[in-house]
Amino acid sequence: SGDTTSPSPSGRPLEVALEGLRRLEYRGYDSAGVALVGPGQPRVRSAKKSGKLNNLVAEIEAQPLPAATAAIGHTRWATHGGPTDVNAHPHLADDGRLAVIHNGIVENFAALRAELHAEGAVFVSETDTEVAAQLLAREYRRTGDLTAAMAATARRLEGTFTLLAVHVDAPDTVVGARHDSPLVVGLGEGENFLGSDVAAFVSHTKEALELGQDQVVTITPTTVAVSDFDDAPAEGKRFTVDWDAAAAEKGGFASFMDKEIHDQPQAVTDTLLGRSDAQGRLVLDDLRIDESVLRAVDKIIVIACGTAAYAGHVAKYAIEHWCRIPVEVELAHEFRYRDPIVNEKTLVVAISQSGETMDTLMAVRHAREQGAKVLSIVNTNGSTIPRESDAVLYTHAGPEIAVASTKAFLSQITAAYVLGLYLAQLRGNKYADEITALLDELRDMPRKVQTVIERSEYVRATARSMKDADKVLFLGRHVGFPVALEGALKLKELAYIHAEGFAAGELKHGPIALIDAGQPVFVVVPSPRGRDQLHAKVTSNIQEIRARGARTLVIAEDGDDEVRRYADEIFWIPKAPSLMQPLLAVVPLQIFAMELATAKGLDVDQPRNLAKSVTVE
Ligand code: F6R
Repeated sequence: SGDTTSPSPSGRPLEVALEGLRRLEYRGYDSAGVALVGPGQPRVRSAKKSGKLNNLVAEIEAQPLPAATAAIGHTRWATHGGPTDVNAHPHLADDGRLAVIHNGIVENFAALRAELHAEGAVFVSETDTEVAAQLLAREYRRTGDLTAAMAATARRLEGTFTLLAVHVDAPDTVVGARHDSPLVVGLGEGENFLGSDVAAFVSHTKEALELGQDQVVTITPTTVAVSDFDDAPAEGKRFTVDWDAAAAEKGGFASFMDKEIHDQPQAVTDTLLGRSDAQGRLVLDDLRIDESVLRAVDKIIVIACGTAAYAGHVAKYAIEHWCRIPVEVELAHEFRYRDPIVNEKTLVVAISQSGETMDTLMAVRHAREQGAKVLSIVNTNGSTIPRESDAVLYTHAGPEIAVASTKAFLSQITAAYVLGLYLAQLRGNKYADEITALLDELRDMPRKVQTVIERSEYVRATARSMKDADKVLFLGRHVGFPVALEGALKLKELAYIHAEGFAAGELKHGPIALIDAGQPVFVVVPSPRGRDQLHAKVTSNIQEIRARGARTLVIAEDGDDEVRRYADEIFWIPKAPSLMQPLLAVVPLQIFAMELATAKGLDVDQPRNLAKSVTVE
């Protein structure tokens, strides 16, 4: 803080950096560090510690850092080099006068390291980041200008990166660069901020600047200058953040995950807001695809990872049914490397909560290179995937902080359904009143989701009683199949229990051999009012496994007396049309996994080995 000419050192830069790290800790949390600079300071002062942010805070309490005029901070999710104190960021260079933090992966780091080593550079860590720090130091010695040195460094790096640096020669300045990795500027009064997400600074300012790809940014307390990697002036895009800091807090719940489960009715409601124009026609947020192109689409490929892919899997049933367009759902990392058949008539739909998942981003680029149009369904405004798409439909779930996705899943299904109805309208597959009726059903879902949440005590008690389970299976058919897959994923990632989801019809083709006495099996039961025999089929599947000793935990629609006879435990959900049922049926499975993990004493917001935003391939 302070003004450009005579910045006065204070504790604020450190405080802001630590608070920002706390808000972003969910992105990666195997080590954390900060670096500070102030006028007259001969060396950068830094502290770094492996483990969660609290370890760093304790370290700083034990050995306080001086007042400063600028600070940078980082939480790490290890790529090159294990999560140790030494490998934690920041990394220093130029005799400790410069510090660098980095997100991403420098792919040519071995070659650069050899080059710098030959010139006499001494490395203390195993990280690719230290290579960037040494390179920046060399370029700074050459140019005497931190911004130019950053651009020169960026030109030499291959891979993905966001870099931030401070140098004691410019104690009121932070320089950043980004290439395929996020970086946002927060514009304050007499102070400016940089963060990989607006959540890092939103409690200080809501005014922000989105940087383009391959840009360098230099901030002081009163100035922000953007340029490209060739030192030519460039411009960022201003926007106002509409999340407040409180939205990113736990709101009185035991965990972010619990809060986010409770946010789900609102997330679905908000995702449906403002979807019709004055003529009652559906609208998408950011559409740069000609309607004639969308009318001519002959195939849709949904690309996503993890939970987002299961949302896509659910959407396939609805979109094919409503639009009569074939829909394939593929994991982004598989799509990218299998020479997929994609052309101008293919609409690729990328689904991502973070908008930063590297696998999905790479698949988006690949699809566009083949001539396909890409429409993305994304939760995080200002992220990379929407910027690289031809059209965007934002889910308005608000920040999702728990690593395991919950409200993003419901809002992704909702948004994908809006897309399905939009296409059905555009292509004339459905009459206006049919579309209105389906939208009304969708708009009625938040109330029903709320009901499921209010009934959660029984599923919580069941989960607590099952904390010693070592294997749990999940079955479903039709849209209940991806719900079963999602239920199994939640249990694996939160409770570290071996869990698997199956299409119920597949059981007798192999998996039924897994059933023995007492084996818990969740079954998602379709509506008995469906006209498609599915209810009867699933009821038979339940009897088959029960005859072999399974303990059946059944999710069924209110009033389904038939299935009650075969259920050891039953979790009731409100009546809803078949295609809407996933929005309800998944909720008890989310709560089950969360509660069981909690009963095991595990951290449900930050499960081991996982990161919220998987920004490496
Ligand atoms: C699971 C989970 C992950 C994500 C996946 C995609 O609970 O959160 O499987 O769904 O990593 O992330 P996004 O949606 O950010 O692209």
